[in-house]
Order: sequence, then C-alpha cells, then structure tokens
Amino acid sequence: MFAERLAGDAARIQAHFDRVLVGFDALPVVQAMSYATTGGKRLRGFLVLEGARLHDVAPERAIWPACAIEALHAYSLVHDDLPCMDDDDLRRGRPTVHVEWDEGTAVLAGDALQALAFELAAHEDCGAATVRADLAVSLARASGAQGMVLGQALDIAAEAAEAPLSLEQITRLQAGKTGALIEWAACAGARLAGAETAPLADYARALGLAFQIADDILDEEGDAAKAGKRLRKDAEAGKATFVSLLGLEGARARANALAEQAEAALAPYGQRADPLREAARFVISRES
Ligand code: IPE
Ligand code: IPE
Ligand code: MG
Ligand code: MG
Ligand code: MG
Repeated sequence: MFAERLAGDAARIQAHFDRVLVGFDALPVVQAMSYATTGGKRLRGFLVLEGARLHDVAPERAIWPACAIEALHAYSLVHDDLPCMDDDDLRRGRPTVHVEWDEGTAVLAGDALQALAFELAAHEDCGAATVRADLAVSLARASGAQGMVLGQALDIAAEAAEAPLSLEQITRLQAGKTGALIEWAACAGARLAGAETAPLADYARALGLAFQIADDILDEEGDAAKAGKRLRKDAEAGKATFVSLLGLEGARARANALAEQAEAALAPYGQRADPLREAARFVISRES
C-alpha cells in the first residue's frame, strides 16, 4: 500500500538525518535544524528513493540525495514561514522555528540546512565524482533564482501586484516555487544511474503542479488540524493561486488532469513505476 511505502521511506530518511546531525555541536541553530527536518510527508525524499529503485540504484547511495532534497525543502519552509514572508506560527503541527527559537536562529538554521543539502547531494557515497557534481549543480539550478527562489519571489511580488496573474504567470510561479524541487527529486535516481531523466522530468512537472494546486485547495477548504499548518491565508494575503483564478472546481479538475498526465508520462517504465503512479493519485487526494 502506498501510505505504508511512503511511511517506510520517511522513517529511513529520519534515521539518516539523525545519523548526520548527531556529530554536530549541540547549539540552538543545530537543534533548530534537527527540529525543521523532523516530520512532514517526505514526498520529495520518497521520489528520490523510488526513482533510484526504478534504476536499480542501491538505497545506500540514494539516501544521500533523498536527505539532501528534504534538507533543502526544510530550509525553504523555515524561511517561507518567517514574518517577512508568510508569517506563519504553525508547521507540521508544531510552532515554526522562529516562534520556537527566534528569527535570527530561524534564518541561520535555514542557511545551514541549505548548505547541508549540497554537502549531502555531493556526498562521496553517491558515486563517481561526475555523478556527485551533476547532483549538486542540478540542485543549485532547481533551488536558486531560476527555480524555487524565483517562484517564491514571484509569489511575494504577486501579493502587491495591481492586476491578478494570468494562468500562464501562475503556472510559471508554481513551477518554480514547488515544481523545481519536485522535479529534481524525481530525476535524482536517474542521475545516480547515469540514465535519461526526460520521462521522469515530464512526470514531475505535471506532478509538481498538481501538488501545488492541491496545496492551494487545502489552503481554501482543508482541515488545519490535519494539515498541521494555518489555512485560509492565501485569499487573505491576496495570493495568486490556481484557486483564486480557476475557482475550487476548476482547480480540482486541473489537478486531476495533471495527475493523469503524470501517470501517462511513466509509460516507458511499465509496471515498475506503479508506486510513482500511486504518488500522483496521492498528491491530489492528500489532506495534509
Ligand atoms: C509544503 O510542502 C510547501 C509547499 C511547497 C506546498 P509539503 O506539503 O510537502 O510539506 P511537508 O514536507 O509534508 O511538511
Ligand atoms: C511554500 O509555498 C513553497 C516553498 C517553501 C518553496 P506555500 O507558502 O504555499 O507553502 P505553505 O502553504 O506555507 O506550506
Ligand atoms: Mg509562501
Ligand atoms: Mg507559506
Ligand atoms: Mg500554501
């Protein structure tokens, strides 16, 4: 069952983080890093591990990029929750890092998690030097001003914009904000194997968009206790989302179509990609 598979990988990722961080000094910033990398669905880490399985890559190699993308994602959430960004006090059912510690610690924990992500992506256990460099460079592209940071910057700019964004503009925003890291995660297994990434990139582009539409729908009509974060904030902040543009029904239809598109992109892999197909259905039906 998909939920069990995801939970199994989440436990593997958690155990690996515990091993990595145990050698660090017990400073507040390190405690905050550990706190921020605990919990969550681990969807991105799962995509790395599953993409690696698809290419017969040993899990001992794949666990490094799986933790790398979860560290990078955790950094993006710590900063996303800061008062200067979304100003949120709840994440994964617990106080956000700047609430539990303070803003300075949250900024630094995010910075350090970002640096850690690159250290993990280029870890010697990942394989040959060319593979490690490929993982690190592609992660840099996915997370920086052509990827996640671009999306976050467009997201913030849209709050102050006079006119609502077009469908095309929202798609670009979301492709950066959420899509780029999901795409990197889905392709990492192929990179480890030195294999073609194109079919998985197609899968991930549709999946990432479906995932962010589901996040926007959850914000509008989800249950905060299940989601573990404050909801009903996007409309209040004047955020541009698929829901604000297409309405709830339109957004739902779009997410469904994208999940089907994601599944179809997996045709070259046959039945071995069934867990990734289930992931596509999971992202549009999730409650957290
Ligand atoms: C939340 O991501 C932020 C978005 C990019 C929408 P997730 O919903 O994957 O958060 P966790 O990791 O499960 O907490
Ligand atoms: C966050 O998007 C995306 C990143 C952190 C890159 P949101 O602001 O929509 O995520 P939530 O709703 O706070 O989880
Ligand atoms: Mg945000
Ligand atoms: Mg947010
Ligand atoms: Mg959101």
